[in-house]
Amino acid sequence: MTSLVLTLTETLRYKGAIGQWSWVLHRISGLGVVLFLTLHVIDTSWSVFYPDLYVKAIAVYQTPLFTIGEFGLVACVVYHAFNGIRIAVMDFKPVWWRHQQKAAWWVLGATVVTLIPVFLLMFGHVLKFYQDPERQILPFSFVIESQLPFAVGIAAALVAGVLFSGVVGLIAPAKPKDKKAKAQGSRLERFWWSYMRLSGVLILPLVFGHLAMMHVVQGVFDITAQNFTVVGTQALNDTGTAVEFVAERWNLLIGPLAVWRLYDFALLALVTVHGFNGLRLVLTDYTAFSPLLRRGMMYVCVIGAVVLLVLGTGALIGTIDETAIKLATEAMENLHK
Ligand code: HEM
Ligand code: HEM
Repeated sequence: MTSLVLTLTETLRYKGAIGQWSWVLHRISGLGVVLFLTLHVIDTSWSVFYPDLYVKAIAVYQTPLFTIGEFGLVACVVYHAFNGIRIAVMDFKPVWWRHQQKAAWWVLGATVVTLIPVFLLMFGHVLKFYQDPERQILPFSFVIESQLPFAVGIAAALVAGVLFSGVVGLIAPAKPKDKKAKAQGSRLERFWWSYMRLSGVLILPLVFGHLAMMHVVQGVFDITAQNFTVVGTQALNDTGTAVEFVAERWNLLIGPLAVWRLYDFALLALVTVHGFNGLRLVLTDYTAFSPLLRRGMMYVCVIGAVVLLVLGTGALIGTIDETAIKLATEAMENLHK
């Protein structure tokens, strides 16, 4: 806690150069995307396991609150990606660190230059949706109600992590580390340090490609556009349901390969491990004063990542059949009743 308070107060007090602010922005943007990813992988798995819930989840994505959030999410991903590349490149060639101030400004500039056309295109999709006289939007109260279980779930996971840590502490109290254990620990941290940089570079094209398909080429509103070609396929979304949208993408075969399933799997694996390891670094940073909390936060991150990987992979190997699409169509019809 002291460390968190110190970060907040010192960030505001210390008139540091841009390097300090890019560290803060990198951290906040990373955390924002991890939060979104958690909700997103759970929601997406519903397209297979609970088609009616997936219909509601996408309808929530199409409300004004989430539209604002969507612009914020894209800004976070773009800034974090460009700044992450800066960190990876600078760490690869430490002699370049003397240019780091200039590089941090270039990252900000590149973010703004990228976001201007992207936001204009995204805004075009929003405008098209709001000009449609037949558009229907879920009430704000429904949006809040639908997000409440996620908030409760996250709070419960944090409490469970700390309780579990307490039990582990009682059963197996920590012994002072010998030299060998310390060396192994730092070797593991060196692995994670390299993983964050390498995975960041691999994630960039995958996540930008995914966002381009879902926000630029098509918009979030097109996921439920009837008789509209589903992005990345030549199929039409006959029912105009989000479930058929996912089915068309995941069922596309090029030769024997379900390309979008493979793409989503690579995205899921890289982004979940990167994001949750990043979350571990942040949470253990702010709980370093208490072994109980620190260990608890580590369990939350490890278990959180495993749950998302299992859920996301389970959805990717599942099938979306005619019954699921029928359920989704019925849920669509009842959505605004
Ligand atoms: C798009 C390409 C991405 C690149 C190039 C990238 C790069 C990086 C790098 C190099 C770090 C390590 C920073 C350090 O050790 O100081 C990092 C940290 C982090 N990343 Fe990413 N990342 C990307 C995407 C993501 C995504 C999609 C998420 C969320 C799911 C995410 C969440 C995080 C978090 C939470 C941290 C920890 C921040 C901290 O310690 O302050 N990153 N990223
Ligand atoms: C509001 C913005 C976004 C929308 C509307 C969106 C939409 C979708 C849709 C429709 C799918 C279903 C599969 C498909 O059609 O390929 C999907 C899957 C996926 N998305 Fe996104 N996406 C968004 C942002 C992101 C971001 C920023 C990330 C990464 C940090 C991400 C990571 C994933 C992953 C990992 C999957 C596969 C999930 C699974 O295996 O169940 N998405 N997304």
